[in-house]
Amino acid sequence: MALRVANELLESGYSIQTDAFPATLLNNLLTSCLEKYNEGEFHQAKIGQGLEQQKITKIRGDKVLWLSPTDSIEIEHFFTAINALRDELSNFFRISLRRTEAHFAVYPEGSFYKRHLDQFKGSNERIFTFIIYLNENWKSENGGQLRLYTNNEEFIDIEPAFGKLVCFRSDLFEHEVLKVHTKRISLTGWFRADELIPFG
Ligand code: OGA
Ligand code: NI
Repeated sequence: MALRVANELLESGYSIQTDAFPATLLNNLLTSCLEKYNEGEFHQAKIGQGLEQQKITKIRGDKVLWLSPTDSIEIEHFFTAINALRDELSNFFRISLRRTEAHFAVYPEGSFYKRHLDQFKGSNERIFTFIIYLNENWKSENGGQLRLYTNNEEFIDIEPAFGKLVCFRSDLFEHEVLKVHTKRISLTGWFRADELIPFG
């Protein structure tokens, strides 16, 4: 799977896989995501970084929970699986991807994320974006497609169906999440070139 993703990233800058992870891993992720969401542990997603961070639901309406490998055994397994992909991409492209950041995202009914690029202004540390969708029995009437702009006004619409992995160059692809008509669940993250510099 990882080599296929790397080859597609090389060819077109993005890759879509439907069978990237074992079903047990995906089911465990969905269960822990819903548990935390129902416990009220998610926060309104922000845009920009540092002092520029603002809560702007006119731009994005999703709620997120940032993840760490120490959260639980399920999350640790997820990081092991996704970091195998990161290692493959590091070797394949001969770049140092030093860090993975990831969060669960829940889009409540009526929410969306306007067209944007995942690299913040003045920061090019996010190299690849990955998104794993966790929506069982998803139908296109539910909205919430990922619209990936492949070439200015050309785009493809991707259904956020359970188990699908989408990966793309964070610096190249503008994208948006169309308005959702029912709760939409994903695990989104980035392979970064920088290391985390701790405070203190
Ligand atoms: C993001 C994003 C897309 C999606 O979190 O930056 O664009 O399909 N997510 O969830
Ligand atoms: Ni994005």
